[in-house]
Order: sequence, then C-alpha cells, then structure tokens
Amino acid sequence: MKITVTKNKLEQIHGDVLAVFLFQGEKVSGEIEKLDKAISGSISEAVRLGDFKGKLYETTSIYTHGKVPAARILLVGAGKRNEFEPRYARNAAGAAARQAIRLGAKKLAIFLREDIDAETAIEGVGLATFDPGLYKTKKNENRGEIAEIVLIGQADDKSVKRAQTVTEATNWVRKLITEPANVMTPDQLVEETRKLAKNYKFGIEVIGEKEAAKLGMGAFVGVAKGSEESSHVVVLKYKGGGKDTLGIVGKGITFDSGGLSLKPSKGMWEMKMDMSGAATCLGIMKWIGETRPKANVIAVLPLTENLPSGRALKPGDVVQALNGKTIEVTNTDAEGRLVLADALVYAQKLGASHLVDLATLTGAINVALGNVAAGVMGKPDSWIEKIVNLGKEAGELFWQLPTYSDYKELLKSDIADLNNAPGGGQPSAVTGAGAIAGAMFLLEFVNEKIPLAHLDIAATAWLSGERPYLAKGPTGFGVRTLVKLIEDMEKE
Ligand code: BES
Ligand code: MN
Ligand code: ZN
Repeated sequence: MKITVTKNKLEQIHGDVLAVFLFQGEKVSGEIEKLDKAISGSISEAVRLGDFKGKLYETTSIYTHGKVPAARILLVGAGKRNEFEPRYARNAAGAAARQAIRLGAKKLAIFLREDIDAETAIEGVGLATFDPGLYKTKKNENRGEIAEIVLIGQADDKSVKRAQTVTEATNWVRKLITEPANVMTPDQLVEETRKLAKNYKFGIEVIGEKEAAKLGMGAFVGVAKGSEESSHVVVLKYKGGGKDTLGIVGKGITFDSGGLSLKPSKGMWEMKMDMSGAATCLGIMKWIGETRPKANVIAVLPLTENLPSGRALKPGDVVQALNGKTIEVTNTDAEGRLVLADALVYAQKLGASHLVDLATLTGAINVALGNVAAGVMGKPDSWIEKIVNLGKEAGELFWQLPTYSDYKELLKSDIADLNNAPGGGQPSAVTGAGAIAGAMFLLEFVNEKIPLAHLDIAATAWLSGERPYLAKGPTGFGVRTLVKLIEDMEKE
C-alpha cells in the first residue's frame, strides 16, 4: 500500500473516496465546511436530513458531481465527542476503508484531524484491508483493493514507517492463523520461523519430539504423542542490548480437537486458530527484525497438534514437566497449559528475565470478558499493569483477573503434584474460575523472581463475526501491545 501525505485543501484532493470524520450532533465546520461549500452544501444537507448521524463507524457516501476532484466524499461517524476513545479513531479509519473497498475504491484519501493522526489512520486502514479469502480461486468483482492512501495533514516519516511495519507484521500473523491446519502444520510454522531467522539473522533452535523427551519436556511430549505430524519447540533469539531479556512464549497448537476429551464438532474447525499465540510471537519477531530495537527478546514456541489416536494422552495419564513437577491430565483438552509449562521453563533456562505468554487458553475467558478484552493474569501487579496500560495505548484492551493463592486449591490432584483441568478429576472446594485456573497452573512453572504476564487471547484472537472495521477471523491481537512493551524496554 502506497502512502502519500499532502497539505492540500480538501477541495483539491483527488481519489475514489475522500473520507472525513464527523462527531455526532456537531455542525460541519472548519476545512470540512469549505469542502461542503464547494459541493453546494451536500454534506450539511446529509446531516440536516438525518441521512448521516455521525454514529460511531457509520458511513455515508456523497457524490461530488465533478465539483471537486474526489469522486465521493465518505462521511465517517466518530460517535459522541465526550465518549470518544483514541482506539475509536483507528477503528473509524478501518470502517472507512472497508466501506471504500465495497465501493471499489483504489485510492482512499483521509482527512487527518487532531484526534486521528497519521499512525492511527494507517493502522486502521491496514488492518481493515486484510483479505481472509486466501484460497478463493476467483476474485470477488465487487471488491476493490486499496492501493494508495492519501493522508491530508501532518505526518512524519517515522510514524508512517512505524504504522506500516506494525500493520504488516499483524496482517502476516492473521494470514498464518487463517491458513488451515492441513497447511499450517507444526512443520510449516517451523519453516516460517526458519525464514524469519535467516532474513533477520536471529538465533534459532529447533527441538524435535525425541530431543524434547530427552530434555525432560514430558508435558509437551504428552500432547505431541497423539499427532502424526512432527512436533517441535522452536526458539528465536534476538540480542539488541540492555540488561533484561524478554521471553515471549506462544501457544502453538496448530489444531485442537481436544484429543481423547474430544470437542463437539460444532465450531471445531475454528480450532485451527489455536496457534494464534505462536503466530503473534512470530509477528512480533518480524517487527523486531524490521526495526531492530535495543532490547533482548527470545521467543519460545511449542508447536504441535492436539489429536486423539492410539498413542494420544488418555485422561488420567500422568506426565512430568521440565521443572520436575508431575501433572495428572484430567482432561486432554487442557493441552495448552501442558505445552506452555515446558516452554515457560525452557525460556527461563535460556535466560529470560521477564515473561509474557500469549495463549488461546480457555473458553472461560470468553464467558468472563467476551471478545472485547483479553484476560491478563500473573505477577507482580506492576508487570500486569504495564500490559494493561500499554494495551490501552495500542488500542488492545486487557483486563486483569486475580491470582489469589486461594485458587491454588483448583490445581490439586490425588496422584500427582497438579491436575491440568479442575473439575475434570476430583471435586474441589473451589469451583469455577476456568481462566484463572489456567493462569494458576502456568504460575507453577515460573521462578519466584521472574515476572509473568499470561495473556489469555482465546476470545480476542479470532472473531466469529465481522466488525465494521475488521473482517471476521483472526485479529492479530497482542502484536501492538507487545511492540509497545519492547519499545518501553528500550527506554530503560
Ligand atoms: N484451545 C482451547 C481454548 C479455546 C476455546 C480457544 C475457544 C478458542 C476458543 C483450549 O485448549 C481448551 O480446550 N480449553 C479448555 C480447558 C478446560 C478443559 C479446562 C476449555 O476452555 O474448555
Ligand atoms: Mn484444548
Ligand atoms: Zn487449545
């Protein structure tokens, strides 16, 4: 996507669509008023007649009849001014882009204003234009493809570049997740990782199933056993400077059938997205490769399928993780925490001083927070708050759930140190709290002094329905927040 910046007047802008943002209930004023005058008051007329109300993400197109060079003006609702949040600006730009695509636009001009800067607009448009139809043999004739964005206003090269790299990394993550599980196998993800390592000169380590077993990754191997595909734990290492090393650990289940604790068939196809955490980590590494920040980051990705077979884990089996703890597998569908346990321990062995894991871990997080905010849990609170705050800046919402030690009750097993699925085994004095139980389990694999933020992105990584500003399917949730986190490390 080509990006040009201009300070021209709105009445001088060329393009298929010229998008202008308007708040609900506000009069057309300033530069937009001048444009309105040039097209005989058609904008204010649309507002006066109530055809355009300015509701958040509402769009109305207005024809210019050659009175100005732009073929159409697209009015884009920004909602009520006093309810405005910065992330709405990104989304509104996205809504404009998706409507422009429907109109067949190739060139989209956007009028920037104080509450919608260049970076936000580029991100919004870039994310909105992701096309999930990877395998369609015919191009949808109705669809445009935005080849150029014209930004009208202020934009410095640095923020344009930043928005482009972040958006490209995020859309690449979305492509990886969109790929079906028969294509995006563990081997294929290893291949993608190798390509990154080669392109960006990262250190890489690929641990096969046999080696993982030898190392003592019994929890990972337990899950991997049931699959005919070869499974791997891959590590990418980037040394950019500074005393800290951030370990990012991504759940990479390329298909989660549940294993012998089989999931219902309805919606099971969506479980190709269960590698979203790993894909997100790869996207972050891609961004790192492009921008080479002054920070140290290692990514640890346990990659396998979770399938039933004659060799699969059985409910009641006991496995031993890399830190020596034994786990009774009361439900083979709680496979994410098993593979993450070994990956977290391994990241610490490799010298991670701070940990973030990204995982589509529980259906319970959807019950708690819906697909609006991701769950964040871990320790210490300052580390969690950092994620929440940076997420807010990035336009990704997180909400902290508690990890009171009372919840440890959920992890008890009669036969082993831990069970992987509370309620699946013995009745417990503490009940519910499915998403928290996942976090409590993971915390058992993190050393006392090491911060862990566990991001449960099960509901936010994948949208079953589309939004005005986003296609349904993968969102790439987490990339933007982690990019902020790494930028934050650079400051220290
Ligand atoms: N991958 C699933 C979680 C999930 C659910 C992701 C819906 C995306 C959408 C995970 O492996 C899982 O199956 N979790 C179980 C845990 C339970 C058995 C303790 C769940 O949430 O039901
Ligand atoms: Mn599962
Ligand atoms: Zn899973």
